[in-house]
Amino acid sequence: MIFRGFRQSLGVSALLAVVLLVGLASAAQAKEPAANKQRLEQGRAVAESVCSNCHLVSSEQTKAVADVPSFQEIADQPDQTEGNIIARIAIPKHPMPVIPITKHELEDVAAYIMSLRNE
Ligand code: HEC
Repeated sequence: MIFRGFRQSLGVSALLAVVLLVGLASAAQAKEPAANKQRLEQGRAVAESVCSNCHLVSSEQTKAVADVPSFQEIADQPDQTEGNIIARIAIPKHPMPVIPITKHELEDVAAYIMSLRNE
């Protein structure tokens, strides 16, 4: 009984921690770009290894699949947010496939895409 309650509250805490982390991550990104350098580098590494088959993921990349939006275009969409990007990767619209990456990688790559934003 006690044990079950404990497990349940663990689940709730885990959920809260995730929500908190996502919130902290975006707050940190706005305030301390230097502290996020590592995160952005990791995001870029993920992008270069898993996304660059289809997307142009950086200004240095010269070839990608036609008709796939570049990360620059994705970043520059009006009202674009990290959360929106995460959602579009987690639940992709055809013909974008489901990409097998961890939640952590997903957040890093979304942060990296947002860092390209020109406004
Ligand atoms: C097999 C090719 C392919 C791979 C690999 C791929 N994508 Fe995509 N992606 C697409 C296509 C095609 C679309 C356009 C779908 C559409 O019409 O919205 C897209 C759309 C997106 C969008 C939504 C763009 C918008 O207009 O809102 C995001 C964000 C995105 N991709 C991120 C990623 C990330 C991050 C990765 C790597 C982790 C990745 N994609 C890997 C093909 C791919």
